[in-house]
Amino acid sequence: MTEPQLPPLLLIGCGKMGGAMLAGWLELGLPAETVVVEPHAAAVAGFAGRIRHVASIAEIPAGFTPAAIILATKPQEAPNALPALAHLAGPGTVFLSIMAGRTVAGMNAMLGGAARIIRAMPNTPAALRMGFTVAFPGPEVSAAQRALCDRLLGAIGEAAWVEDEALIDPVTAVSGGGPAYVFLLAEVMEKAAISQGLPPDLARRMARATVAGSGALLGASAEDAAVLRRNVTSPKGTTERALAVLMREEAWPALMEEAIEAATARSRELAG
Ligand SMILES: NC(=O)c1ccc[n+]([C@@H]2O[C@H](COP(=O)([O-])OP(=O)(O)OC[C@H]3O[C@@H](n4cnc5c(N)ncnc54)[C@H](OP(=O)(O)O)[C@@H]3O)[C@@H](O)[C@H]2O)c1
Repeated sequence: MTEPQLPPLLLIGCGKMGGAMLAGWLELGLPAETVVVEPHAAAVAGFAGRIRHVASIAEIPAGFTPAAIILATKPQEAPNALPALAHLAGPGTVFLSIMAGRTVAGMNAMLGGAARIIRAMPNTPAALRMGFTVAFPGPEVSAAQRALCDRLLGAIGEAAWVEDEALIDPVTAVSGGGPAYVFLLAEVMEKAAISQGLPPDLARRMARATVAGSGALLGASAEDAAVLRRNVTSPKGTTERALAVLMREEAWPALMEEAIEAATARSRELAG
């Protein structure tokens, strides 16, 4: 069964995240009409002929009525961009924001108070359509608007929903920042490999391939991560010896708790 065509979309900001989302939507099938507001023409060059590009919000074609407006600029741009979009707010249009830290209430105030808003937190594997996005629907968002945004977010990976906006803070800490923790793992494995006498180039390739390959294995498996871990841990073997260090109470389990708690607290501080 073919998916229904996407309705008219307005994308504000076509940088790393906005560009990844747009590529995903175009892969789903051409939306009825897509207008992209982006100051840098180079950022939209790859989409030429399939979208209508304008350089600023003021240049959005008069009369264009998008079903969804996707807010993908940096959060600090919101006080400039959102008031300029207030005339498009109404029951027939849903705003889908991926801006970190921007709350539904804060955005609604900038949009004139009558906007339907969904707040979402994606992560960078979205660039490979392997992202994980958690979304929160604000007041008065219709089931159809939620379903549309679920499709739009599904185009860059997996999408999940929470009914409590406060949960976006720990989501930001876990899946938003999570790729950085995994990249750090590759960095420290590489350093440790060099410490054991391996040539730097080999250490780098080993660490990268091990992290990437293990991630792919995890993604392809229905097993819990703990089961996959146990599968490579022979009794009295070398991995068991390493895990005895990493899983000490004060080591990875406690450090990850502390790190996620710190990031969650920071997300709360930045929210507005
Ligand atoms: N990257 C991540 O890991 C990640 C994860 C979760 C959420 N997010 C959120 O995703 C959003 C976008 O992040 P990003 O990494 O994709 O940023 P980005 O690459 O900087 O993209 C934003 C783009 O929007 C443009 N822009 C600025 N003002 C604009 C306006 N008024 N109208 C239209 N376009 C405008 C920017 O141009 P200039 O460069 O000239 O400003 C830039 O090209 C952020 O709010 C971020 O919080 C990012």
